[in-house]
Amino acid sequence: MRVFQVDTAWSDDNLRIGERPEPTAGPGEVRLKMLASALNYRDLLVPRRGYGSRMKTLPLIVLSDGVGRIDQVGRGVDAYRIGDRVCPLFFSSWPAGDPSADHLSHSLGCEIDGTMAEYMVVPASMLASVPAHLEDAEAATLPTAAVTAWRAIVTEGRVKPGDTVLVQGTGGVALFALQFAKMLGATVICTSSSDEKLKRARALGADDTINYLSTPEWGRVARDMAGGVGVDHVVEVGGQGTLPQSLRAVRPGGTISMIGVLAGSVMDAPLGLVVTRHVRLQGITVGSGEDFVAMARAIARSGMRPVVDRVFEFAQLPEAMHHLASGRHFGKICIRH
Ligand SMILES: NC(=O)c1ccc[n+]([C@@H]2O[C@H](COP(=O)([O-])OP(=O)(O)OC[C@H]3O[C@@H](n4cnc5c(N)ncnc54)[C@H](OP(=O)(O)O)[C@@H]3O)[C@@H](O)[C@H]2O)c1
Repeated sequence: MRVFQVDTAWSDDNLRIGERPEPTAGPGEVRLKMLASALNYRDLLVPRRGYGSRMKTLPLIVLSDGVGRIDQVGRGVDAYRIGDRVCPLFFSSWPAGDPSADHLSHSLGCEIDGTMAEYMVVPASMLASVPAHLEDAEAATLPTAAVTAWRAIVTEGRVKPGDTVLVQGTGGVALFALQFAKMLGATVICTSSSDEKLKRARALGADDTINYLSTPEWGRVARDMAGGVGVDHVVEVGGQGTLPQSLRAVRPGGTISMIGVLAGSVMDAPLGLVVTRHVRLQGITVGSGEDFVAMARAIARSGMRPVVDRVFEFAQLPEAMHHLASGRHFGKICIRH
């Protein structure tokens, strides 16, 4: 079968189409005929061994997001049938509950092979069904960015109707967070480097917007937008470069979900504000199978659709990665198998 893998050495140049034997489902496993995959920021780092020694030895099939249709069911699997459309979970050993070292130890397209393959064999315990109304490309976006946003907004964030949530940028995680926060009846402030993207964020439900390039001191502006007291929740994807502004935007007792480090990974912020404002800094690393199931139920009931920026063909993965690296996208970039 055809796969896209980092083959002989860790570098962008070694990300190539390759051949692997077609796998067969064993006891407790199912086989998926893959339909679509989706990209995440981390997929840009994987070919350079950006996650260090915990990464699998080569060759490594890339990408952590994907959806497939079950075409083989192994002995002892009762929960799924041939024809079901399912996503493999981002973490293969985090079915439910709080994070632990074991739960966080194996993720697709990093420590174990990912979704850019014609077929995947997956333990039935590592799967979740997808909402029926979603197109394949939309469903492929759910395991990483959507579950991360769900855990930030719902599981850990406990956002309530009437809260104000600030989301940074218009990438995958931020737009899912915007959509989940609106689903819960919150007010959303969205930042972006582009006025055009902010217009689209408003169409998606953002109540207020700030261009973080033309307004570098956006933290105070966001606080004023939230009645002068500050926002209840910040979905932080910038890290070092954005946390100082997030600490100005958040209300006393509010939460900052620490998700990404697009603007640097070293702590360089007025930590006194964390103390004196009782701010909760909550680290998030995707989420569990239980998070996926709760999220998929909410998406099915609400009819929400993930924002897909563009769909590329399987062989166009390098072009799709260039598009992601350019930052021109709004929402998710997908691959049709
Ligand atoms: N912890 C986790 O579980 C987890 C899960 C998924 C992703 N992440 C991390 O979260 C970050 C975002 O991931 P993603 O997949 O959503 O990426 P993405 O789709 O590539 O989105 C990136 C967007 O972030 C915005 N951005 C970039 N620099 C910014 C800055 N300095 N301030 C504010 N916004 C900025 C830009 O939006 P505009 O173009 O609108 O300016 C950009 O388009 C990455 O660091 C990723 O590794 C973490």
